[in-house]
Amino acid sequence: MLIDGYATLEGTTRYRLRSADRLPAHFRQSRDLWISSIGLGTYLGDPTEEVDKRYTEAAVFAARTGINVFDTAVNYRHMHSERALGRAVSELISSGMARRDEIMLATKGGFLSYDGEAPADPSAYFQEKLIRTGLVQPEEIVAGCHTLAPRYLENQIDVSRGNLGARSIDIYYLHNPETQLREVSHDEFLRRLRGAIGVLEQAEADGKIRLYGAATWNGFRVKSDSNEAISLEEILNVAREVGGQEHHFGAIQLPFNIAMPEALAASTQMSNGRPVPLLHVAREHGLAVFSSASLLQSHLAQGLPAGFQQWLPGLETDAQRAIQFVRSTPGITCALVGMSSQRHVEENIATATRPPLALAEYRRMFQK
Ligand SMILES: NC(=O)c1ccc[n+]([C@@H]2O[C@H](COP(=O)([O-])OP(=O)(O)OC[C@H]3O[C@@H](n4cnc5c(N)ncnc54)[C@H](OP(=O)(O)O)[C@@H]3O)[C@@H](O)[C@H]2O)c1
Repeated sequence: MLIDGYATLEGTTRYRLRSADRLPAHFRQSRDLWISSIGLGTYLGDPTEEVDKRYTEAAVFAARTGINVFDTAVNYRHMHSERALGRAVSELISSGMARRDEIMLATKGGFLSYDGEAPADPSAYFQEKLIRTGLVQPEEIVAGCHTLAPRYLENQIDVSRGNLGARSIDIYYLHNPETQLREVSHDEFLRRLRGAIGVLEQAEADGKIRLYGAATWNGFRVKSDSNEAISLEEILNVAREVGGQEHHFGAIQLPFNIAMPEALAASTQMSNGRPVPLLHVAREHGLAVFSSASLLQSHLAQGLPAGFQQWLPGLETDAQRAIQFVRSTPGITCALVGMSSQRHVEENIATATRPPLALAEYRRMFQK
């Protein structure tokens, strides 16, 4: 049984108002939704039942304390993360702690995924599950692990809906599409992207997803002459070509943190013939922007240079300061933080009891 519904303006407004006294400047309006400035990610951890249980508990606790963004991917922990999140959503809704229209579920597809555990012989597994079934042609796979093949994406959207127990996914990302550029030409990449976006527009029309986007690691951060560089303008042109002016490409995700500030600080993109940072293009097109690795996969929680205590005041821990940096960045909608521990949710959401830095305070950090 799939849970009906999706995040709506009415539902996310209701959710925001429940914590408005405690978390006054925590939610941002984007894409006609109220989105919490901190979201829960589910990438790290072993694919075990013990870690699943921790993620489910952390996600339930997060939704009860003011986080309405949940991010996962079909391949994370071999589908364990999607399923752990699915159990959290089911518990939240059946107990009345939250409603489906209050929370945003985001997932990703593109990597070849295993069901529950890595098989002893991965190539025999993919041969049987993907090639023989006709979901993917061998030449559509790059780096032995990634594809944008339309039939595969159609299949993976349904797999994710099943894992999450949700009839509609709020955001479906193409996962690290730059992986394709390691092996195919730019023209072939655009051809594959067109096919993938065709599937995503159709999935939106069928009510299976609400928005789609691109979640990248290097693609948006590297210099434009790198062979992994992805132009956001170019993706948006493809979305318009396939889906018309009312296309549903509405969100992007990329690493952004104190040690990886390229989205703001490096002109990796072009806009109207001029080099600009990614956040500039995202703002021009009204996209929601989600930062991944907001804590640099926990490294920033283990010690920031002393100056950050003064620049990011009123907070107790370096994890909170690192999150405050990200959520204060103009143009970042939501700082995703991987949290399988309820204690970390508690510590991190406390950041949102403070307003984000004002622009002048934020700029001061870059003037030192
Ligand atoms: N290419 C992509 O699309 C991509 C790539 C990477 C990540 N992502 C998404 O972005 C999310 C965030 O990135 P990430 O998980 O890689 O890295 P992250 O958020 O920078 O760090 C997560 C790690 O930090 C720990 N942590 C959380 N709060 C803490 C605190 N207060 N003190 C100390 N440690 C703390 C977590 O531990 P516990 O688990 O024990 O709580 C986890 O080990 C991911 O979960 C995923 O959803 C997307």
